Amino acid sequence: MGLPLAQALAGAHSDVIAFDTDTARVEGLSAGMDRNEPEEGGFEVPASLSFTTEVSDLAAASVYIVTVPTPIDGDQRPDLRPLQAACGTIGGVISKGDLVIFESTVYPGVTEEVCGPLISEHSGLKAGTDFTLGYSPERINPGDTVHTFATMMKIVAGQDAQTLDRVAAIYDPVVPAGLHRATSIKVAEAAKVTENIQRDLNIALMNELALIFERIGVRTADVIDAAATKWNFQRFTPGLVGGHCIGVDPYYLISRAEALGYYPEVIRAARRLNSSMSQHVAQRAVQMLVHLGNGVAGRKVGVLGVTFKEDVTDFRNSQVPEIIRQLHDFGLAPVAHDPHADVDRFREEYGIELRSWEDLVGVDVLVLAVPHHAFLGRPRDELFALARRPGVIIDVRSALNPAEVPEGINYWSL
Ligand SMILES: NC(=O)c1ccc[n+]([C@@H]2O[C@H](COP(=O)([O-])OP(=O)(O)OC[C@H]3O[C@@H](n4cnc5c(N)ncnc54)[C@H](O)[C@@H]3O)[C@@H](O)[C@H]2O)c1
Repeated sequence: MGLPLAQALAGAHSDVIAFDTDTARVEGLSAGMDRNEPEEGGFEVPASLSFTTEVSDLAAASVYIVTVPTPIDGDQRPDLRPLQAACGTIGGVISKGDLVIFESTVYPGVTEEVCGPLISEHSGLKAGTDFTLGYSPERINPGDTVHTFATMMKIVAGQDAQTLDRVAAIYDPVVPAGLHRATSIKVAEAAKVTENIQRDLNIALMNELALIFERIGVRTADVIDAAATKWNFQRFTPGLVGGHCIGVDPYYLISRAEALGYYPEVIRAARRLNSSMSQHVAQRAVQMLVHLGNGVAGRKVGVLGVTFKEDVTDFRNSQVPEIIRQLHDFGLAPVAHDPHADVDRFREEYGIELRSWEDLVGVDVLVLAVPHHAFLGRPRDELFALARRPGVIIDVRSALNPAEVPEGINYWSL
């Protein structure tokens, strides 16, 4: 999230210093190469933008914007360590009169109750007087070319009216879609988690309906197409919720709510349901294979797409590795391919070797887990040719037209 922000700011402000602790990342970006969203020929680094791993380079700044990750730990509790480390870094270089804006997704209260005091502790300066705090949640949607940094309205907040004006003045020149001035930092923090929790819940509802319609014997995609003709129907679709926003942010609010003595039920239920969908897909693949006869053990399953959603390189918290693991546990031989995922980094993270498209030819079950354009853009015959006859196609996102599926293939979609 920091990169598109730094690039946008560099177009309007004279000196943007982009700091990261990852040396390889900084080396790549300094050369105009973004490993997260690689472009042919790279991107041009404007004179107003520099990349660095040197903390001392940050001392020249008067405004700090923090976009570090906010993951969860193994117990699904907020892991604020990157944020705390960033506050320590800023605390070492900040001067009187400086402004610190947080963009990372957090639960309401983190900016003023965790970050401000930490910066004070490291700097000896007082939050609210010596330096001030702002918050402006990041809304970028990876892989989306329509809803971009410039085309989406941005929420801004400050700990007092003067700070809010200062925060707004920084973003105003680079967000033509406009700014929404939230009434407080906590409101802006809460707004961000609310956006993602609403999406998580809506997808969970569609996943639950899909599980019911499957038992009834109707295709959920057909039901949604019909229901969407009603003027106030919101088109959400069932699927695997992954990534480090929708699948993670609800836990931030859950944890805060529980600390305050309230135990969320609906938000937790949505998380539970969405997290279980990988298991459902794997079980469905096995059931359909059993129905073909000739046993399950050792049968080959091809998995297309491993990233957390279509047309992105990011596979953090993707549910597809979990599908692969479960297929493996059922005694099947899964083989996965993804043209967008970095093979080495995926192996490092999940211990799974990604293979070529050709390695999937002749699989008993083909799981179209992530419908990248790179897959759907190929002639359908090539896609269907991967599965042997008789065989099975599992179309997780209902991206295919069932009427086009050739004879001899049993088709299932969520
Ligand atoms: N990616 C999204 O789709 C998205 C969308 C909206 C909001 N967000 C939120 O924005 C924040 C950042 O997300 P992201 O996907 O860009 O994260 P990311 O995991 O890509 O990390 C961003 C960078 O922070 C660096 N970093 C980690 N600790 C650091 C430290 N102490 N000092 C300096 N750099 C450090 C990492 O090396 C990395 O390059 C998160 O809170 C996330 O929830 C993300």
